[in-house]
Amino acid sequence: MKITDSIKYVGVYDGDIDLFEGQYKVPGVSYNSYIVFDDKIAVMDTVDARKTNEWLANVEAALNGKAPDYLVIAHLEPDHSGSIQAMADKYPEMKLVMTAKALSMLPQFVDAALAARAVAVKENDTLALGAHTLQFITAPMVHWPEVMLSYERSEKVLFSADAFGTFGNPETDPWLPEARRYYFNIVGKYGAPVTALLKKAAALDIAAICPLHGPVMKEDLGKYLALYDAWSAYRPEAEGVFIAFTSVYGHTRAAAETLAKTLEQAGTPVRCMDLARSDLAEAVAQAFRYDRLVLASTSYNGGVYPRMRQFLDELAEHGFQNRRVGIVENGSWAPCAAKTILARLEGCKNLTFLEPTVTIRSALDGESREALNNLAEALK
Ligand SMILES: Cc1cc2nc3c(=O)[nH]c(=O)nc-3n(C[C@H](O)[C@H](O)[C@H](O)COP(=O)(O)O)c2cc1C
Ligand SMILES: [Fe+2]
Ligand SMILES: [Fe+2]
Repeated sequence: MKITDSIKYVGVYDGDIDLFEGQYKVPGVSYNSYIVFDDKIAVMDTVDARKTNEWLANVEAALNGKAPDYLVIAHLEPDHSGSIQAMADKYPEMKLVMTAKALSMLPQFVDAALAARAVAVKENDTLALGAHTLQFITAPMVHWPEVMLSYERSEKVLFSADAFGTFGNPETDPWLPEARRYYFNIVGKYGAPVTALLKKAAALDIAAICPLHGPVMKEDLGKYLALYDAWSAYRPEAEGVFIAFTSVYGHTRAAAETLAKTLEQAGTPVRCMDLARSDLAEAVAQAFRYDRLVLASTSYNGGVYPRMRQFLDELAEHGFQNRRVGIVENGSWAPCAAKTILARLEGCKNLTFLEPTVTIRSALDGESREALNNLAEALK
């Protein structure tokens, strides 16, 4: 597949992977890799060890008898470094280009002897390939410390490492839903480093973005950059209320659905999710997507329902902030979910907790219905 006349896609699609990074359900994921052809030939990243042979075959076919001069390594996480050794063995003259930090970590992933073939580069260093020149842009903690991007100056192509990546099949799946889920769960904790990277990207004239997962972007680049700008600054992407609930017997669910209906009737966009029956990574993405969040939970052994506790921990760990939050608790003898929710989110910055906190004793009654209506008012 051609990106431009001189840049080819040689990545592979992994449609059988059950869990990405050992925990995220995915529809499949691509490990992207590219080749820049000029007087010198540069291969941009390798792929997960699950797909080494398929990738090497792609590379060989694209090279059409030539040997690559450079392997540019943006990121050492095994989904991209898993085939470095095989590639280096196959093309013994090829040099390995990476940051000094990556070089220091390289022996953890390949034979230590490969370090002798490495070229360490730093911020704004360039590598001339002929008419094409790669400029390196470091991106520490997006989302590992050794990460760098490459900008090809003549064709204005940004090889963006994991930034702008997404799960799914690049040929058929839409970018946004899985890109949001990918960003907030995998990269999202590192908002400040992503913001710093976007600042550097703003100085570049970009015609195409080539990420390490998902489709190559050539059109509407402003749309992707604006989304990353909002996401990395922890600004909501959309107006609306995300209601996340857990329920043992169904009464908290009924309250969550009643609240959703009230808000929808008032014209407020609402998304309602049963955390026990949903993908938690998707719930995290939705919480970051909207500007308002409602947490509705049963009380459970002096705390909150386990799935809610896990969700709260995920939010706190991923730097959830800048949102308005409503709380609904349910308990039959000593309701304690609200207190636990507040304690779990204590470290989150700039959360505004809305009044009233709704307390339900087993099932909605007149008093708790009125409180729920008042919370709906506060959420509008
Ligand atoms: C294992 C377990 C632990 C519970 N712990 C508490 C508790 O600590 N305090 C309380 O008031 N209710 C507790 N409950 C009761 C539920 O929170 C209560 O019945 C609630 O109304 C259930 O709401 P639901 O209909 O949405 O499931 C517990 C229930 C279960 C099954
Ligand atoms: Fe990564
Ligand atoms: Fe990756």
